[in-house]
Amino acid sequence: MGTAAACASLTETPDQRRDLLLTVIEDYHRDRSNLIQVLHMAQAIYGHLPEDVLCTVAREMALPFSEVSGVVSFYSYFTTRPRGRHTVQVCLGTACYVRGGKKVLDALRDILAIDVGQTTADQAFSLEVKRCIGACGLAPAVAIDGTVYRRVAPGKLKAILGKYE
Ligand code: FES
Repeated sequence: MGTAAACASLTETPDQRRDLLLTVIEDYHRDRSNLIQVLHMAQAIYGHLPEDVLCTVAREMALPFSEVSGVVSFYSYFTTRPRGRHTVQVCLGTACYVRGGKKVLDALRDILAIDVGQTTADQAFSLEVKRCIGACGLAPAVAIDGTVYRRVAPGKLKAILGKYE
């Protein structure tokens, strides 16, 4: 169902997306214990979780808006803003941090002109920070759309990003 919902976000009209969200909420029995699953599905349908979607979830599940928005802000995989076409994740785990991960992050902030959690104006890139992406021996590491780049020097970043533009 997740794949179908993700495809739906590209093809469905706003009314169809809303109907699908209501069906999901119904399928999960409007049960508070299913809130995280419902939010996952809502994000698959819309691509992100804007305030009006959170309001719908809160109203239809008879939950306070603050509870729903609190869950969304607690888990980093939920986003209230549209993501870019490419997700850039800078590792700031211990190995990467001590080997220059912070400089890589600062360089990406400059190049993309955005901060962590933001998306470039052309919707090309979103910038995130991770704790470890499994390349500690070749730190600092950056992942773009799941492809891991190792021993990344700030001076290499423009060339790496250029592959995605
Ligand atoms: S700490 Fe960066 S890849 Fe593990």
